[in-house]
Amino acid sequence: MKQYLYAANWKMYLPMQEEILFFTSHKQEFTELSTQASIALFPSYLSLPAIAQELQGSSIKLGAQDCSAAPLGAYTGQVSARSIAQVGCTYCIVGHSERRALGETNDIIAQKVTRLLENSVTPIVCIGETAQENAQGVTLTILEMQLEPILKVISDKPLVIAYEPVWAIGTNRTPTSTDIEKILLHIATMTAHHKNITLLYGGSIDKDNIKEFKNNAHIGGFLIGHASMDSQEFKKIVQS
Ligand code: PGA
Repeated sequence: MKQYLYAANWKMYLPMQEEILFFTSHKQEFTELSTQASIALFPSYLSLPAIAQELQGSSIKLGAQDCSAAPLGAYTGQVSARSIAQVGCTYCIVGHSERRALGETNDIIAQKVTRLLENSVTPIVCIGETAQENAQGVTLTILEMQLEPILKVISDKPLVIAYEPVWAIGTNRTPTSTDIEKILLHIATMTAHHKNITLLYGGSIDKDNIKEFKNNAHIGGFLIGHASMDSQEFKKIVQS
């Protein structure tokens, strides 16, 4: 059976103490799920050390939600890929549309990927078109523009690409299975000569629509936002 990766993006939904409490009160459930699938949790930065401590020896993986494009230096407020590696993260999300909205470019995202690979952290690179781009029928062109700078900087180290249509994030809207098939086939073709690439889908995944996505042969896992903050819903997603 296919071993999917379920990446729980906790965004900034909770402040630190509540986020750590959310983790500790559901640790047992996450641990059980991690015997059935690959589970990775993406809390906000300040919760990482405490959750990493709790996860020592666990098969649950930890990830950060972003990193700096610079190695180290005078970058007030930023967090280096090296720190993310040191705290025990296996993964780091980069290029999420909520960060692209703040001005992050494809070149900056490629630099972040380089920093993460230098520190043996697996990047999860988010790509996806906006509602307007989708309506204009330029989705594949946009995805190519987002992917090309990334493919130039990677080797054969593990990399995850998450297709997340911007209009599907937090909206309870998802692409049709025909569109998903066409888009993921395009991404799979573009990345075919790179080993070690896993494709995820993200955007309004829930317990009711997950089965349809699992019919897609290219999908290796899911990036899950709001539904991952409901442990029962998350469990149903993983177990469906
Ligand atoms: P969502 O978020 O599941 O709440 O749509 C997904 C994401 O932003 O990664």
